[in-house]
Amino acid sequence: MDIFDLMIIGAGPAGYLAAERAAHAGFSVLLAEKGNIGGVCLNEGCIPSKTLLYSAKIFDSAIHGQKYGIKTDDITLDHTEVIARKNKVVKKLVGGIKAKLRTLSVTVIQGEAMIQPKTSDGFKVRINDTEYTGKRLLIATGSMPVIPGIQNVQEGIKNGFVLTNKEILDLDVVPDRLVVIGGGVIGLEMASYYNSAGSQVTIIEMLDHIAGQTDLEISSILKKNYEKKGIIFKLGAKVTGLAEGKVIYESDGKVHEVPADKVLMSIGRRPVTSDLGLENIGVLVEKGAVVTDLYCKTNIAGVYAAGDVNGKSLLAHTAYREAEVAVNNMLGKKDVMRYDVIPSVIYTNPEVACIGETQDSANQKDIDYDIVKLSMMYSGRYVAEHEAGDGICKLLIDKNTRKLIGAHMIGNPVSEIIFGVGIMMENEMRIEDIKELVFPHPTVSEIIREGIFEFK
Ligand code: NAI
Repeated sequence: MDIFDLMIIGAGPAGYLAAERAAHAGFSVLLAEKGNIGGVCLNEGCIPSKTLLYSAKIFDSAIHGQKYGIKTDDITLDHTEVIARKNKVVKKLVGGIKAKLRTLSVTVIQGEAMIQPKTSDGFKVRINDTEYTGKRLLIATGSMPVIPGIQNVQEGIKNGFVLTNKEILDLDVVPDRLVVIGGGVIGLEMASYYNSAGSQVTIIEMLDHIAGQTDLEISSILKKNYEKKGIIFKLGAKVTGLAEGKVIYESDGKVHEVPADKVLMSIGRRPVTSDLGLENIGVLVEKGAVVTDLYCKTNIAGVYAAGDVNGKSLLAHTAYREAEVAVNNMLGKKDVMRYDVIPSVIYTNPEVACIGETQDSANQKDIDYDIVKLSMMYSGRYVAEHEAGDGICKLLIDKNTRKLIGAHMIGNPVSEIIFGVGIMMENEMRIEDIKELVFPHPTVSEIIREGIFEFK
């Protein structure tokens, strides 16, 4: 009987990266996946949505070409072509991961894994009526969309009126009226694409602002940009039901309705922990998520969990890091998660990127901080590339330690800049150290340097 060094359930970013890292270090690895290799991120999340959004960005730039001296008549976005390209990109990347797993001799098994009680041989997992044994187990089963128990939602899903992050990426036809329920990351990104593609988009959000935990000034700038593009917002509005061709919501104590050809349900995601057999080995699950420590260990020795299944951060890049931390600890190398320095990005146009404390969270922790706020127009490169850009950059600096504790930005391409701020924070650089760094000129990243020098 073969005993694998590591058995992994789920081949999304956490699962496939853990398989790669563990196999690279010499482990024999079994990787089980019931759906597609690459998981939600590659097949129905990060990559396909960014592919659509890139087409939208090119289209938006082209229709505003006049401002930049480019004559652009008769520009159209061909949705069918955009979707076809998205499928090509996904196929290419999934193919790349499969090839890498093959090169590293990872045993990939297509099928639904069910954990069996442990025996003296090790952990047991049943897949397609075959039982496999391993010394260690990594749970990387990801998350699924939250579907609220509101009126007619199940019928809507069955007849294709209601979509999740998956189906919205494959619509044959651009809906005339798209209603997005939930003004969080998925809702905003998909609203951005379908607005560019020609839909009349309405976003219904329960809170009085969009983009969840994002700095309020930044979320308000994003909202203004979206309103200019014609997106309609219903804030402080709770969706209570669906009817044929409409969404019903309550706000200010009154019932309202908005017509819709399609509805995107994007009110959050929840970890996938049921029908897995976790109870067979006693893995602790709280509020539907596998409980893990900062080493990505569960309460059971030899069982680890990484990615959305632990309900901590629900971001692919967090999943990557958790996978590495889990594997390093399996290999006896001490490695620990630092959840406080994980950047987050909303890939709207303009992009939003944040890391660390917000003013609210810093106030709650009684941190004595200074805030530096700059218009992105302080960057020459941003001015060259943005007619009437309204981007801002906010830096939060701890007055006592003189370290950067948070950064919040809106404007393109902040998704590519936030990583640098992450390095500064991860390495706990002081303002004086950051001042000595050389930033390439002209780049939008220089906004960080400008901001740091504003701090007295
Ligand atoms: P979310 O948690 O970001 O936003 C959901 C929004 O729905 C919240 O603002 C909430 O107030 C609102 N809401 C809840 N119930 C409602 C109701 N009945 N009526 C109206 N509004 C309601 O969730 P989302 O957008 O579904 O994303 C799920 C997860 O996927 C997130 O945790 C995120 O981390 C991840 N993700 C990350 C991306 C990124 O980093 N760029 C992109 C896409 C997803």
